[in-house]
Amino acid sequence: MAAAVKPEVLRFPAPREMILAAAEGVVGRATSAAKARGRFVLALSGGSTPRPLHETLAAAPFVSRMPWDKTVLFWGDERCVPPADPASNYAMARQTLLDRLPRPPLAIARMEAERGAAPAAAAYEDVLRRLSPDGIDLALLGLGEDGHTASLFPGDPALDERERLAAPVSARGNPRVDRVTLTFPAFRAARAAFFLTRRPGKERALDSILAGSSGLPAARVAPRETLTWFISES
Ligand code: 6PG
Repeated sequence: MAAAVKPEVLRFPAPREMILAAAEGVVGRATSAAKARGRFVLALSGGSTPRPLHETLAAAPFVSRMPWDKTVLFWGDERCVPPADPASNYAMARQTLLDRLPRPPLAIARMEAERGAAPAAAAYEDVLRRLSPDGIDLALLGLGEDGHTASLFPGDPALDERERLAAPVSARGNPRVDRVTLTFPAFRAARAAFFLTRRPGKERALDSILAGSSGLPAARVAPRETLTWFISES
């Protein structure tokens, strides 16, 4: 694994235990960031795994432990579809988290990917630099069967981005649509990253990454302080 920090690997027998542990971790990072810097900058992930984490953070007891009034929400990636489209990561977060919160977060920085991948990536770069000049405090990430994370897919030119914090991605993934993704420089500037993944179907990618190979995109996420893998065995 190419990460500058040694990853912490936490294994759980079932998704519920993984989600509860991840929720505790999010609350811990949030309260320390809010105390230290007056805000908590969180990048949400798409996919199915984060859904129960969002629902858990939006419900007791976690909802009242989170400093939502100091939390700035970003996304790690977004599909180039309208924000109400079922394929939209923002739509998923609305349904599972945002619409359930007792009060709105400090700021919601939606990736306006429906504008087109290239203009949306350029615009998001500006938003990131303006709203989180000190970098993201915590990036939530998933793992694809092919080792992708966010919308950083094997072989994609976005993997080679060295400067920009957000990049366009042409027609990749499922659904196969254009996307906008944060880049490795953005994740390198992050203080922490949590990967949440259920092992079934991802054994090859997961075992390769945890064995230390750096070939897959998810293996190249290297935050400044902590990198934690939350793995459910089922
Ligand atoms: C996306 C996600 C993507 C996801 C993985 C894992 O927009 O689809 O950012 O990287 O995290 O594909 O998805 P699951 O959680 O559904 O396995």
